Amino acid sequence: MKDSQPLTWLGSKLRLLDQTNLPREEVYLELAGYQEVAQAIREMKVRGAPAIGVAAAYGVALGALEIETSSRDEFMARLKSVLETIEATRPTARNLFMATGRMQKAAEAAGSVAEIKEALVREAVRLHSEEAEATRKLAQFGADFIKNGASVLTHCNTGSLATTGYGTALGVIKYAYEQGKKLRVFATETRPRLQGTRLTAWELRQAGIPFTLITDSMAGHFMNRGEVSCVIVGADRIAANGDTANKIGTYSLAVLAMEHGIPFYVAAPTTTIDPMTSSGEEITIEERSPDEVLNIQGVSIAPEGIKAANPAFDVTPHLYISAIITEKGVVREPYGERLGEIV
Ligand code: MRU
Repeated sequence: MKDSQPLTWLGSKLRLLDQTNLPREEVYLELAGYQEVAQAIREMKVRGAPAIGVAAAYGVALGALEIETSSRDEFMARLKSVLETIEATRPTARNLFMATGRMQKAAEAAGSVAEIKEALVREAVRLHSEEAEATRKLAQFGADFIKNGASVLTHCNTGSLATTGYGTALGVIKYAYEQGKKLRVFATETRPRLQGTRLTAWELRQAGIPFTLITDSMAGHFMNRGEVSCVIVGADRIAANGDTANKIGTYSLAVLAMEHGIPFYVAAPTTTIDPMTSSGEEITIEERSPDEVLNIQGVSIAPEGIKAANPAFDVTPHLYISAIITEKGVVREPYGERLGEIV
């Protein structure tokens, strides 16, 4: 089974699969500076919480390599501005801030400028392999929830493209399929950026897993007809009490799932859990340009001059979540206690 590599470190450049061109074209970019990485994250050329975190770490490493000074104080001052630029790209995914936090610590712990640069590249590479490894493990745990013959509904894109690894929710589906289970998968299109139509469909097809693409508004219909056995999604930030921010539309799916008595699972590495955020109310929800709603693939679909809202994520309160599947095991209520134990 082919895994698509969204990010590859080339020593002093970052190779990035431009996800905005998929599935039409597989275009790889070679980014040599942190500003280019910041732009790629902002424009969603790389997206998905764990992949954003890994790109952010490489962005900081590239930013460090660009600083020409032998003064440690000057270097650290300029590195601070690199970190701030990367952190200003997208506010919701916890993994981005986890990555910049780790990079900052690695810099502080190293000695000379040359040593800091080496330490930062090492830390980014380490973080990349840890994130990739984590999703393989959590996929294994999660596959236990998927019964032979199950019909699984998933939202957005949570596969290799979103994680640089095996995938979170999509990783669980892939793992269950590789175990030989017969599955039916519903992939939602995921308006407005169509991560389901463009990316999940592309990954599921590559993996040879049979699936049906549905528009977001069809989910209730299929649940009501008894055609969905469980819902599994990823996460961008999980608060200490289990409230989970994920792609816009996730909350509606969770409410519908509860109404129909369907289990609703969240799959995420522990790097997505934010112990410092006590509940979903404190999570910053990214507001993106209304143009993403008013246009599809660059073509205007609405009357000129109308308003549109575009929150990129929503928060699902923990009471709707049947279990949170991480690489360190499966967590259930009371999330407040159990998430703290594993992070
Ligand atoms: O806006 P995106 O495409 O970055 O949003 C991605 C999601 O919401 C995913 O569900 C989430 O990051 C988990 S990916 C493993």
